[in-house]
Amino acid sequence: MAKSKIRFLWKWPQWLLELLSWGKSFKNNPIIGSYWLNLCGLHVARVVLAQLLFRFRLLLLAPLVPAADRREFQENGFILKENFLPAEQFAQLAEELERYEGDVREFVEGTTLTQRTFMTHHVRDGMAELKALADNRQLDCLMRYCSSKNRPPLFYIENLCNHANVTPRPDPQRDMHADTFHPCVKGWLYIDPVDDSNGPYIYVPGSHKLSWARLKWEYRQSLEACKQGAARAPGRYWDGSFRVSAAALEEMGFAPRKFCVPANTLLIGNVYGFHRRGEALAPSNRMTVWMQARDNPFNPLFTLWPRSTARAFEWGWGRVLERLDRGKLASGEQRSFRGRFSRQLTRG
Ligand SMILES: [Fe+2]
Repeated sequence: MAKSKIRFLWKWPQWLLELLSWGKSFKNNPIIGSYWLNLCGLHVARVVLAQLLFRFRLLLLAPLVPAADRREFQENGFILKENFLPAEQFAQLAEELERYEGDVREFVEGTTLTQRTFMTHHVRDGMAELKALADNRQLDCLMRYCSSKNRPPLFYIENLCNHANVTPRPDPQRDMHADTFHPCVKGWLYIDPVDDSNGPYIYVPGSHKLSWARLKWEYRQSLEACKQGAARAPGRYWDGSFRVSAAALEEMGFAPRKFCVPANTLLIGNVYGFHRRGEALAPSNRMTVWMQARDNPFNPLFTLWPRSTARAFEWGWGRVLERLDRGKLASGEQRSFRGRFSRQLTRG
């Protein structure tokens, strides 16, 4: 009893730190998940403050990208660029990724086998085409602006194997959701063309904005997410990635858009906006260079040293991944292997 009390006391500084940064779990953090605090508006206060600071940082970083890109991002919540790389450069990049051999993490979502590799700058240094992409001035500026943090993103290669020969598991990617309570971005450069056969990305344009209707929805969801015990339905809802129903979307006046795009398309999206992975109708692959740039939403400042800050984040995230790996490997949720991505489901 005394032991658990001491552990509880030890946890308080961590919970407070999470509250003041990107912590979002209503389940694991009793402050974020407090019914009474959320009834008094804790969650909506975090949502509003994070949005205001995001807008402030975007304003300061405006010189990084042309006005048309800024308008597209702020109006729709995403930037879409077809034929992003010169054709020859893209073909060489696709070939390099096809040939890639290294450490791959593999796990099941629904009937999809997801393979992912964290591409640190050490790994990229050995891959001329991927390094050229990461150093691409236009991509660098877009990601640094859209993240509002002036920091280059973390890079991954993600290869989906749709309808793979696996034992199905719940698939959180298929539910329409917002990743978290604050604006943050992910980016994808599509190596395969995307259509209904291999699961297009679905995004709700404009849903990244904080309207009055969205704020009311956030308030209701925050109270729902505080439920405990048997009242708490299973699923990923409680980690703070709120799911949204089709009815609620319609009520807020939104219509989802499906991104069937050719290979060599760049998509950068604010994942505070609602999104999901569309159904894949056939056994197929979908490979992307996947980028992520999440940061403390309550820090009003951005870095003045983009490259070294990116390296520091990369190092830190590498340590976190190692810790997460241990748990997931032990539970059987994840498998790791050294080798190539599985590409046998790719259309000829
Ligand atoms: Fe998501």
